[in-house]
Amino acid sequence: MEYGIESERQMTNSEDNHFSLPHEVTRYYEEGLEAQRLSGALGQLELLRTKEIIDRYLPVPPATILDVGGGPGVYACWLARDGHKVHLIDPVPLHVEQARQASEGQPECQIASISLGDARKLHQPDVSVDAVLMLGPLYHLTDREDRLLALREAYRVLKKNGHVFAVGISRFASLLDGLDRGILSDPKFMRIVQRDLTNGQHRNPTNELSYFTTAFFHHPEELASEVLETGFHLEKTLSIEGFAALLHDLDERWDDQDHRTLIMDAVRWVEDEPSILGITGHLMAIGRK
Ligand SMILES: C[S@@+](CC[C@H](N)C(=O)[O-])C[C@H]1O[C@@H](n2cnc3c(N)ncnc32)[C@H](O)[C@@H]1O
Repeated sequence: MEYGIESERQMTNSEDNHFSLPHEVTRYYEEGLEAQRLSGALGQLELLRTKEIIDRYLPVPPATILDVGGGPGVYACWLARDGHKVHLIDPVPLHVEQARQASEGQPECQIASISLGDARKLHQPDVSVDAVLMLGPLYHLTDREDRLLALREAYRVLKKNGHVFAVGISRFASLLDGLDRGILSDPKFMRIVQRDLTNGQHRNPTNELSYFTTAFFHHPEELASEVLETGFHLEKTLSIEGFAALLHDLDERWDDQDHRTLIMDAVRWVEDEPSILGITGHLMAIGRK
C-alpha cells in the first residue's frame, strides 16, 4: 500500500496543536534510531558542517534560539553549552523525552525549555527569538503550503535581522545513497527513487526502515524559493555534506585528522557552487528577517 494524503491528516500524540504528522513518520521515529544518526562518519560530517554554518550567523551568546523539530536535542545541547538560551519543540514524544535526558546530562547548561509542538503553529510570541533552527520539519511537510506555514511561523517569532536555518533533503539524496549502498538494484527501492526524482515525494511502501519514511526531497532552487516566498532575505543556499557523502572510504578517512580536515575544506570550497549544489544529503538555506 502506498501512503496517501489521508494518512497525513491523522493526529499525533501532541495534544496542544491542531496539526497532524503522518502516522508512519511518527512510527519511524518511535523506533528510536534518530538519537544515533549523527554518530557515524557521515553523521559526524553532517553535524560538523551544520554547526560551522550556523556559527557563521549566530549572535554572540546569550541569544534566544528556537530549535524547531529539534529531535533528541543534539544541536540544542550544543548551543546551550555555548551559553545560548535554547527552546526545543518536536512532535514526537520519544524525541522530547530523549532531549530532556540529554539536557539533564549537562546540568550546568540545560536546554531552557523542551516541549511537544509543531513547526506550523509555534507558541512563541511574535518577534521574540534571535534564531530559528529548522533542521528536519521541512523534510516531513510534504505539502508546499505546510512548509510555507512553518517558515512563516519562523518569520513571525524572529526578531529583525534574526536568521532561520532551513534544511531540506536533496532531491538526489536517495539516488546517491542507493547507488552507494548497493540498494538501487532492489526494484522496490528503484521505484521509490524514480518517484523522488520526478516530484520529490518520497514514500516508502515497504517495511524496510532504511528506505526512510514519508518525506519531501527539495531541489536546491525549491528550498531557496520557499525561504524567499516567506519574506526572508536569502543569505545563501549551501550543501551540507556535499560530494563527501559519496566517498566509499569515508569511515576510515574520517578517523584520520588530516584527512578529516581536507574533506571539510574540500566540501567548504564548493559549498555554494550552483552546478553541484544538489550532490549532497542535506541542503541549508539561510534566511534573514
Ligand atoms: C531527521 S530528524 C532531525 C532532528 C534534529 N533536528 C537533527 O537535525 O538532528 C527530523 C525531526 O523533525 C521532526 N518533525 C517532523 N515533522 C515536524 C513538524 N511538523 N514540526 C516540527 N518538527 C517536525 C521529527 O519529529 C524529527 O525529530
